[in-house]
Amino acid sequence: MKKLDISVIPGDGIGKEVVPEALRVLDTIAKVHGGLTLNYTHYPWSSEYYVEHGKMMPDNGLDLLSQSDAIFLGAVGDPSLVKDHISLGGLLLKIRREFEQVINIRPAKQIKGIVSPLTNPRDFDIMIVRENSEGEYSSSGGRVHHGIDEIVVQNSIFTKKAVSRVMEYAFELARKRNGHLTSATKSNGIVHSMPFWDDVLAEVSQNYKDIPTKSEHIDALSAFFITKPHTLDVVVASNLFGDILSDIGAAIMGSIGIAPAGNINLNGKYPSMFEPVHGSAPDIYGKGIANPVGQIWTAKMMLDHFDEMEMGTVLLHAIEQTLQSGIKTPDIGGNSNTTEVTDAIIAKIEELA
Ligand code: NAD
Ligand code: IPM
Ligand code: MN
Repeated sequence: MKKLDISVIPGDGIGKEVVPEALRVLDTIAKVHGGLTLNYTHYPWSSEYYVEHGKMMPDNGLDLLSQSDAIFLGAVGDPSLVKDHISLGGLLLKIRREFEQVINIRPAKQIKGIVSPLTNPRDFDIMIVRENSEGEYSSSGGRVHHGIDEIVVQNSIFTKKAVSRVMEYAFELARKRNGHLTSATKSNGIVHSMPFWDDVLAEVSQNYKDIPTKSEHIDALSAFFITKPHTLDVVVASNLFGDILSDIGAAIMGSIGIAPAGNINLNGKYPSMFEPVHGSAPDIYGKGIANPVGQIWTAKMMLDHFDEMEMGTVLLHAIEQTLQSGIKTPDIGGNSNTTEVTDAIIAKIEELA
């Protein structure tokens, strides 16, 4: 019997609503398929925790998490309690950075039962590979001077090590998918970092001559996500470009509420972390209408990560069949609530078993 220890951090807002639902789904799939025991350790680290303790997680928080095989996270951020840069910096971004989760994979593809807002889109299946450790998210810089003379400097730091690493990951993925690679650049405007990004791409691509490769400027590429997403396959992007592209990817799928993501540690020293693309959605928190599909699809990505592909496939089929039957939340045109959608997905899994 395979056993996985999962650290669970629901976080803030709708994270607290969709994470328990996704765990119910995971438990069902593990039960009906057998051979897998999931052992959860729950951590209440959140903005509320910060208000009580003055920190987003205890001092030994990372030690506790490091004992698990993976982290399953909802969303972090409650600006009514804590400023975002403090809550995110003290939990989500800290885990990504300290646990060397250097790659963020974010699929944007059509699934059955959800209508894309695009008019007659051709089938698209994109995998965004986002650099997750540096670039525009580097913490170097700060505010200087006072009053009218106050300025702020934020340094984007790109290292050859991290850029070539994310590109190699993206090329390998493109090869596995028999696909092609698009690199998001902006070398016409950002004079230092993006020409460097392009140079590293040119160098790494020497080892992947079988993979068709091209670069697109991020502004044009954002438009292509809308006008011709079917022409894209693997898209490699810097931290901020990848962040923005993944919300566009979610939007063309039909809702930000369905997009999953995985923060991958490559060196095996620390657990990887799985969390949906969306945030804590304070505007709908407490109404019971959050779409649980993003968190549940994220659970599938976690199962895939542990080579439980069969379970992952059943899970996605159950999601699709539920949505096709019309049971869906309001963000994708339905009138079911979070629990009803989850219940229906669970029933489908049991039916498909
Ligand atoms: P958001 O993703 O929380 O919400 C954007 C819009 O999408 C809102 O209208 C929301 O209602 C809707 N939405 C999001 N998830 C949904 C779901 N599952 N079902 C239905 N509708 C959904 O982004 P935001 O409003 O920019 O940020 C809110 C808070 O979340 C902020 O504190 C932000 O910093 C944080 N945030 C956290 C993460 C994360 O933890 N990974 C990601 C993004 C934003
Ligand atoms: C995401 C989020 C985070 C990011 C924020 C909340 C720090 O937008 O996971 O996409 O920018 O990475
Ligand atoms: Mn984002």
